[in-house]
Amino acid sequence: DWTTGNVIDEQVAAIREQVGDKRAICGLSGGVDSAVAAALVQKAIGSQLTCVYVDHGLMRKGETEQVEKDFVAATGVQLKVVDAEERFLKALAGVSDPEEKRKIIGREFIRVFEQAQAEIIADEGPAVEFLVQGTLYPDVVESGGGTGTANIKSHHNVGGLPEDLEFQLIEPLRKLFKDEVRMVGQELGLPEEIVQRQPFPGPGLGIRIVGEVTKERLDLLREADAIAREELTAAGLDRDIWQCPVVLLADVRSVGVQGDGRTYGHPIVLRPVSSEDAMTADWSRLPYDVLAKISTRITNEVRDVNRVVLDVTSKPPGTIEWE
Ligand code: XMP
Repeated sequence: DWTTGNVIDEQVAAIREQVGDKRAICGLSGGVDSAVAAALVQKAIGSQLTCVYVDHGLMRKGETEQVEKDFVAATGVQLKVVDAEERFLKALAGVSDPEEKRKIIGREFIRVFEQAQAEIIADEGPAVEFLVQGTLYPDVVESGGGTGTANIKSHHNVGGLPEDLEFQLIEPLRKLFKDEVRMVGQELGLPEEIVQRQPFPGPGLGIRIVGEVTKERLDLLREADAIAREELTAAGLDRDIWQCPVVLLADVRSVGVQGDGRTYGHPIVLRPVSSEDAMTADWSRLPYDVLAKISTRITNEVRDVNRVVLDVTSKPPGTIEWE
């Protein structure tokens, strides 16, 4: 019988057998897969697992706290948080090209993660021989079904691993589809915000600022994004949309009239899409009153934003993200 309870029992037993008295490391991204994988391994081997969370400063409002506080509270996991915001901002300074941004973020991420990994390995205790990965069944199929190696698509490179990996992999979600992973996560008592989280790119808000990434722009986008998410959730639309990127056109300025006079600020783009697998997508027909509420709130509450526009492009031809 397929029940979440059986899946958990089976995996816990298998992980215990695989790891023995050695130690394991797991990178947390804030996403569903790594969180559920970590929770399963934690259940199996407890303090033999250490999780690493790299805070690159490109997360949305509240997401880092969700991992640091709620996830830890729910699982009791041993967590090492690396605050690397300054390092990432420095590396990204002056860069506007999307692929260049991705490369930099991916590279810095691996460096920071490896450093944390080395520190954990240097700690007293049994050898660290295992690395936990939130690989799902569709990833296994796509990559040819191999096991034991870090076979990760370049698209998912952020949070990924160096190629000269010498760890054995623990992949407790290899037989599961996304909806099953969410069910297992729920059964394990993970916070709803993590279990039901919509897809979010590894490079985070770094690829949602059209133009250079700066702390000021990130803060502004974080506010706008939080408002959009809050209103979509309040309207009960989270299950209807696949994801809704909120994009800051930092290199574009628009004229507005706010309060006492003319402003020269930036537009925010809403990109709500419906999709099955992100390969194709259609723009979501959101209710006008919800869009109006989001627009009013963003222009009222977010400094330097005087315009909200809606992206009505399907994929193809437009990708889901703007960069
Ligand atoms: P696009 O923009 O290609 O996005 O239509 C398809 C899906 O992939 C996500 N995405 C990324 N995920 N690293 C990631 O981990 C990335 O660099 C990246 N770029 C896009 C996007 O959010 C959507 O779900």
